Amino acid sequence: MDSHDVQADLKHVLYDREQIQRRIAELAAEIDRDYAGRDLLIVGVLKGAVMVMADLARELHSHVTMDWMAVSSYGSGTQSSGVVRILKDLDSDLMGKHVLIVEDIIDSGLTLSWLKTNLESRGPASVEICAAFRKPDAAKVKIDVKYVGFDIPNEFVVGYGLDYAEKYRNLDFVGTLAPHVYE
Ligand code: PRP
Repeated sequence: MDSHDVQADLKHVLYDREQIQRRIAELAAEIDRDYAGRDLLIVGVLKGAVMVMADLARELHSHVTMDWMAVSSYGSGTQSSGVVRILKDLDSDLMGKHVLIVEDIIDSGLTLSWLKTNLESRGPASVEICAAFRKPDAAKVKIDVKYVGFDIPNEFVVGYGLDYAEKYRNLDFVGTLAPHVYE
């Protein structure tokens, strides 16, 4: 879906398809360079990271293996609680591997902070993070993120994997919703 398909629901477009694709290609080039000569496992965190995983993996010029995790980062509310539950674990053994966690967004940072510590406890050679979007003003924990697509304002955003009530994940851009959608 593009912005015309959801015009009535939209407040504004933050980054359009071309801007996102260009930035993902830049990140892929950095990753290719940083991991040259090393085996890399990229780990997508379901469901939001599906789009960025698919685009990033195709922009890479090196072989990578891909795996997926599903975690529930939210309690009953809409705020990240820091209590993370693994809904689907990795198929891969991480022992000795270079691991790159790929996320759609870092909000409070609580999910990734927990996930990084969890994966580091499995004996990998390294664990780094790549996030398409990050909200610096929403950070509750300090977290070292090696690759960031865009720093964005602390607003509720949808698209390119990000949902509101499971909708809008399949927008090819990232934008903010008009208040009438969620009020
Ligand atoms: C989103 C996002 C991160 C997390 C970020 O996932 O994909 O995993 O929230 O928030 P935090 O930095 O405050 O912890 P969500 O739980 O909404 O699941 P989803 O990917 O299935 O949409």
